[in-house]
Amino acid sequence: IKKIGVLTSGGDAPGMNAALRAVVRACKYYNISSIGIRQGYEGLIQNDMIDLGPRSVKNIINQGGTILKTARSEEFRTKEGRQKAYDNLLQNEIDALVIIGGDGSFTGANIFHQEFNVPFIGVPGTIDNDIFGTDFTIGYDTALNTVTEAIDKLRDTATSHDRVFFVEVMGRDAGFIALNSGIASGAQDILIPEQKDSVEELCESLERSEETGKKSSIVVIAEGEQLGGVYEIAKEVKKRHPEYDIRVTVLGHIQRGGSPSCHDRVLASRLGIAAVEGLLENKTNLMAGIRSNKIVFTPIEEAIKKHNEIDAELIKVANILAI
Ligand code: F6P
Repeated sequence: IKKIGVLTSGGDAPGMNAALRAVVRACKYYNISSIGIRQGYEGLIQNDMIDLGPRSVKNIINQGGTILKTARSEEFRTKEGRQKAYDNLLQNEIDALVIIGGDGSFTGANIFHQEFNVPFIGVPGTIDNDIFGTDFTIGYDTALNTVTEAIDKLRDTATSHDRVFFVEVMGRDAGFIALNSGIASGAQDILIPEQKDSVEELCESLERSEETGKKSSIVVIAEGEQLGGVYEIAKEVKKRHPEYDIRVTVLGHIQRGGSPSCHDRVLASRLGIAAVEGLLENKTNLMAGIRSNKIVFTPIEEAIKKHNEIDAELIKVANILAI
């Protein structure tokens, strides 16, 4: 391997830049070239690439977003699009790819590998923490801190007005952000897709808290939760408790921005280097992850298909603390 191409794809996540920096510098360390591909797979198709060296990634370890930009490429889903991408790979003499992204990005890489046998290693970058084969994805810790800080602020106003706040957080089909930020911000209840919830149970929890003298509450709701969404849930609770002064806050894309936390910067740095080292050892079709604080490589198909379980102990913690 003489030249590695690197791209960021799918939803951005804080720490992607730190991962890019690590890939580029590891390439230099091992005396190979690196080239950045802009806009995810779009850049591969449009031949939008830039040679990178250690200094071109200076001052980005602390920056949110991705300087390479990212996209969810429709054209890469087509055979013609992937053929164009492959032609550009050959033209740019790229021998292998590092794909920084989530499961959609890995699915694309997997198909590309099957069709054209291009070696690649995935680096998990998504705030959702929904990728099998790693304890943490890049961006998750930062997003948790952002959410916790935001809910702390909501708590101030909820307390002043004796209100019930329903806060929707991201996570796509996974409840990791909701469960952990809910515990950290002292939520009265946390609704996640992995658990079967009901409006009745939610009301019981709010009633219990009232009986112990609580006058305001925070309920954290994962966007993938299955009771019809945060507004519907708020409406149903209001029907049963017209006396509650309810407000809804959807945190939205604020969760994807911001300077990455120390944890995400270190994780991204480790995984970026691991990806380059893996490719140099002729590993391919794998994702670099971290398990029990050790670098591990997981077959990409497992990373895509399997799911991390929600930790039952964390649910117990949330329940005990919401007494
Ligand atoms: O996967 C990251 C994520 O932020 C999810 O939590 C969310 O469901 C989705 O991306 C939002 O996507 P978009 O930025 O395309 O609206």
